[in-house]
Amino acid sequence: MKAASLLHHTKQSEYMHWAKTRSGARFNLATSGLANLSLKDLRLSLDDLEITGTSGYGYEPLVRALADRHRVDPGCVVTAAGTSFANHLAMATLINAGDEVLFERPAYEPLLALAHYLRADVKRFDRRFEDGFRLSPSDIEKQISTRTRLIVITNFHNPSGALTDDDILAEVGEMARKVNARVLVDEVYVQMLFEEPPRTAFHLGNQFVATSSLTKAFGLSGLRCGWIFAEAELAERMRRLDDLFAASPVHAGERLSLIALQQLDGIAKSSQKRLDENRRLLNEFLDQREDLETIRPIAGSIMFPRVRQGDSEKLCDLLRERYETSVVPGKFFEMPAHFRIGLGGDTATLMEGLRRLGAALDEVG
Ligand SMILES: Cc1ncc(COP(=O)(O)O)c(C=O)c1O
Repeated sequence: MKAASLLHHTKQSEYMHWAKTRSGARFNLATSGLANLSLKDLRLSLDDLEITGTSGYGYEPLVRALADRHRVDPGCVVTAAGTSFANHLAMATLINAGDEVLFERPAYEPLLALAHYLRADVKRFDRRFEDGFRLSPSDIEKQISTRTRLIVITNFHNPSGALTDDDILAEVGEMARKVNARVLVDEVYVQMLFEEPPRTAFHLGNQFVATSSLTKAFGLSGLRCGWIFAEAELAERMRRLDDLFAASPVHAGERLSLIALQQLDGIAKSSQKRLDENRRLLNEFLDQREDLETIRPIAGSIMFPRVRQGDSEKLCDLLRERYETSVVPGKFFEMPAHFRIGLGGDTATLMEGLRRLGAALDEVG
């Protein structure tokens, strides 16, 4: 194992800690998902719930519903607590200490921290602002080697919201296949395309492992309904490893997740409406700000503006302390000149949050 990977070994995520303790604000533009639904938003009766079931390796009706929705064989579906644990289970199955893992930069920090926690030998490839944070297969090609075991990508990209099309993913998949590596695509935000059937990179070939959940696009974060799609033999190894982690899912959560899945079309319609309206508002705001430069994604719930004066820390602090508004400082994504703004929340909150962001920007000047 390389000394460098030991150096980076970690047992925590700085971003998650910040998100749980410091991101809350009266006008919260730091969250990346749709505003949370509550129980009364679902049609259900208590008779639909149960405390204990025969879940074993996942509640069969839930696994089948996920498989049907995504046109995937049920044997390729592994359920997990959110995309977070789906990522953990997938990476812990795929990575041994010292394995070479290629990781996008900027990256979603908890995912990167996970690779370091697993003592991977992490190498980076850049997604450049100047290039619209596009995923560049040729940059990956420069880093890939016969030692590469895994390539990790988010789609849409967190933090920029850039969408990677299937043909680019397929190119990366082909590179991975040649060296016997896998491609992990965290596609939690791709749900926000609201396609039927939902897009998943898993259909591009067996070298792909896809993770996702109902948390972001549907305001169902509390359900922790996450999943992994992987080829059947690999999926089975993940289930067996999970015996050492969570062992069994929360059955009432599985039941609720199934109910939510059955009502997902209606939920998706209101999510999409909210996102379209809020994106229009955010774009209008950005049109007026010469002090911000932003790649404007066509869909999704996040954008990653760059402040022209070069560091967003002061702005984020001022915004929080004087204007009761939060965004995510770019330092958590290794790009301190940027900040991430979420547009999935309540529209009135976004409008007032943007007004306050404008005032804070004027003040830091
Ligand atoms: C890329 C990415 N993956 C996973 C997660 C966590 O998702 P979940 O709430 O489903 O665990 C997030 C949350 O911000 C994310 O941005």
